Amino acid sequence: MLAFQRNPAYGTGSELQSKRGVTMDQKQTVTLRPDEDGIAAAAQLLRSGECVAFPTETVYGLGADACNDTAVAGIYAAKGRPSFNPLIIHVDCVETARRYCDFTPDAERLAQAFWPGALTLVLPLKAESGISKLVTAGLDTVAVRAPDHAVGQALLAAFGRPVAAPSANPSGRISPTTMQHVLAGLDGKIAAVVDGGACGVGLESTIIGCTGAPVLMRAGGLPVEAVEACLGRRLMTEEDPSAPKSPGQLLSHYAPRGRVRLDVTAPDDGEVLLGFGEVDGAALNLSPSGDLTEAAAGLFAALHQLDNMGAERIAVAPIPDHGLGRAINDRLRRAAAPRGD
Ligand code: TXA
Ligand code: MG
Repeated sequence: MLAFQRNPAYGTGSELQSKRGVTMDQKQTVTLRPDEDGIAAAAQLLRSGECVAFPTETVYGLGADACNDTAVAGIYAAKGRPSFNPLIIHVDCVETARRYCDFTPDAERLAQAFWPGALTLVLPLKAESGISKLVTAGLDTVAVRAPDHAVGQALLAAFGRPVAAPSANPSGRISPTTMQHVLAGLDGKIAAVVDGGACGVGLESTIIGCTGAPVLMRAGGLPVEAVEACLGRRLMTEEDPSAPKSPGQLLSHYAPRGRVRLDVTAPDDGEVLLGFGEVDGAALNLSPSGDLTEAAAGLFAALHQLDNMGAERIAVAPIPDHGLGRAINDRLRRAAAPRGD
């Protein structure tokens, strides 16, 4: 028996969904409280090879035992994710991470400065690490991060092994920053989701390749400027021909259902305006005061909300391209990219 408690807000996701008239398939997704019982139940599900969504400070992750091939395969199946796109393993701290990968001096400095936090390091994988080859997609490197979230940390402690976790959304769609977003995309496909409220940062982690000279693989919740200040030098980018590449940077991603047009100062007729700063006529505004941290925290929630509003054409106001703005613009460019459909 699962030790989860029911109250009006907790129960199975299917129950919550059926109230909204959505049909379910395969699994009954359980919603768990972020308390001792809920976390123990989530850890038990991970031990038995199930997929469990859990909160981190960046976005909700879809976790599974990183050392169990079948469990990791479940992540790819639930998300519909291409299996050549490797996953991040989540650990409680740098000491645990050392069991699975080798830290270069730059990686050591970054982990000491920013962990736990919105930073993922791509590092050489240790031989005999025990990490499933499905996690690394057969690469000899592994992406690792220690999340800065009390519930995420409690789950890692209760489970006691690394948790492989991509963002808990169907592949190509908007990342989830609340339990409700997770259920909207994955209810019926995963065993459980632990509720941790809204994620504080709201954008995925910044990914730095640290197998040689440090390279920016994905702008994210930790501003690039902070990483460069810590290392005392500029990062290589993936445009550099000698830089190692991250397989997951598919251009069309983070996509709401509606078409997206960027850097719009005057929306066309029929477009719904997503504003930033002082703009007139915005249906939603990421930050009326022009605060990039606030905009990052609310970006995915705003895209989910535009989906719920049925917005077919979305115009986005210009957003400055520094600090967290760089990651916000990266996600928006992918949301606006031509789709395969
Ligand atoms: O904030 C985050 O990073 C969230 C939370 C849940 O931790 N996770 C997340 O995972 O965004 P995901 O799977 O959506 O993105 C992971 C990215 C992918 O682009 C993947 O290609 C890249 O990390 N990656 C994973 N392992 C890698 C490796 N060994 N070398 C290069 N890139 C790697
Ligand atoms: Mg993702």
